[in-house]
Amino acid sequence: MPLIKRMQHFAVEVADSDVSIAWYREVLGFKLTERHAAFEVDKIPVELTFMRLNAVHHELVIVHNPAKKYTPKPALPEDDLVGPPMFHHFAFECDSREDWAQLEAELRARGDVRFVRGPVLHSWVNPRGDGSWGENEAFYILDPDGHRIEIFCNLATIDPDGTHRNGEGVRMEGTKTAEL
Ligand SMILES: [Fe+2]
Repeated sequence: MPLIKRMQHFAVEVADSDVSIAWYREVLGFKLTERHAAFEVDKIPVELTFMRLNAVHHELVIVHNPAKKYTPKPALPEDDLVGPPMFHHFAFECDSREDWAQLEAELRARGDVRFVRGPVLHSWVNPRGDGSWGENEAFYILDPDGHRIEIFCNLATIDPDGTHRNGEGVRMEGTKTAEL
């Protein structure tokens, strides 16, 4: 078994901490745990804001470097054709399909959230699927800096024999896993 238990928080660089903190609070429901100025601690030259969904200190860290001149990010990852490697998207999971569908409806009703894909079922097994992989249902939005965020439910799990099991617990016969 891997010694690492799980992937946990994500630190995202932003052009304006105030704007991003407000957005993650109001749009996605994050809570502000604590916010710190650049150089508040020796050797930390960036603003750091720790945000959480529930009881863990942070799932998201908002990072801003006051010394950096920020330029706009292309709207879509596939339009980012020159430059250093960037992250493509990060994802937040809902506990149930009902929660996921409710959140999508609420975000669309706001009218100010930039949707870039979905809702879509990532499956080549399910007839409703888009031909891709994971069995999760997802939609994709952009945060104020254009960072692409996936919100999903029902990601497949992997049975000991490598067969994928979907969010309803059904084995997806014919699927296989590269490494057990
Ligand atoms: Fe994803």
